Amino acid sequence: QVAAASGHTVVLVDQSDEILKKSTKGIEESLKRVTKKKFADKPEAGAEFIEKTLKNLTTSTDAVAVVHSTDLVIEAIVENQEIKNELFKRLDKFAPEHTIFASNTSSLQITQLANSTTRQDRFGGLHFFNPVPMMKLVEVIKTPMTSQKTFESLVDFSKAVGKSPVSCKDTPGFIVNRLLVPYMMEAVRLFERGDASKEDIDVAMKLGAGYPMGPFELLDYVGLDTSKYIIDGWHSLEPNNPLFAPSPLLNKLVKEKKLGKKTGEGFYKYK
Ligand code: 3HC
Repeated sequence: QVAAASGHTVVLVDQSDEILKKSTKGIEESLKRVTKKKFADKPEAGAEFIEKTLKNLTTSTDAVAVVHSTDLVIEAIVENQEIKNELFKRLDKFAPEHTIFASNTSSLQITQLANSTTRQDRFGGLHFFNPVPMMKLVEVIKTPMTSQKTFESLVDFSKAVGKSPVSCKDTPGFIVNRLLVPYMMEAVRLFERGDASKEDIDVAMKLGAGYPMGPFELLDYVGLDTSKYIIDGWHSLEPNNPLFAPSPLLNKLVKEKKLGKKTGEGFYKYK
């Protein structure tokens, strides 16, 4: 959405036409929200902006078939190293020489993903934040193998889609998640110990620390499955780090498919 809205030609790839239909509808709705604010007293300019953005966006279920005309691939599939590696390995065979590969992974090592390809110098991390149309930040991740030219292209692209890039080495969680995820897990542990209710913890962090959402609201918003993938991955890297300890409550909710806002229930219920 943000790439198309800033004039880039985008092909959105997913597993089925049904998912792509849902995604396109989500983008249309989000564009309406953005436009309502951005073009508050110019509805015609707003309509034109939506039309132009949607013209820049096509969809496909065949990544291999579209990658030959792509300058930049941004992968944002399931947080699973093997599945990501398999995709990158396949795309590497069909992508043009100059094409840069980037992953939006929240928790996996970019270096390991890059090593599934033959273009380690043209591989980096581009980590966006939910909701992407609103959150201004992009973390640009440089591995020891990423070339300076690739890094600069990723920084330029981030600016071209209207974001503020920061750079970080290929370290677990980069900057934001390395601080945010342990904080959210500490909130869950506080609740698990019965020290405070989840509602009070959320109110406390909003009114006492000025956060726009409390930790439980944010966990539900990000997705409990995503949060569990992140913490489990880090726990396996550093089993003795108490900040990365798994939470029985989070595990239970994920097992019950209560994944947050997207499934209608997580820590809270949604209509
Ligand atoms: N698309 C477009 N616009 C959106 C939007 C979306 N998906 N979501 C919100 N907005 C905009 C709209 O303009 C909306 O105005 P509207 O009500 O007229 O539509 C405006 O935001 C305000 O939204 P709300 O009134 O619904 O609520 P808030 O004022 O609380 O703002 C928020 C919503 C921007 C999401 C804010 O609550 C926030 O900043 N929350 C914290 C988000 C955060 O921490 N994100 C990082 C998560 S970690 C992550 O992503 C990393 C990953 O690896 C796990």
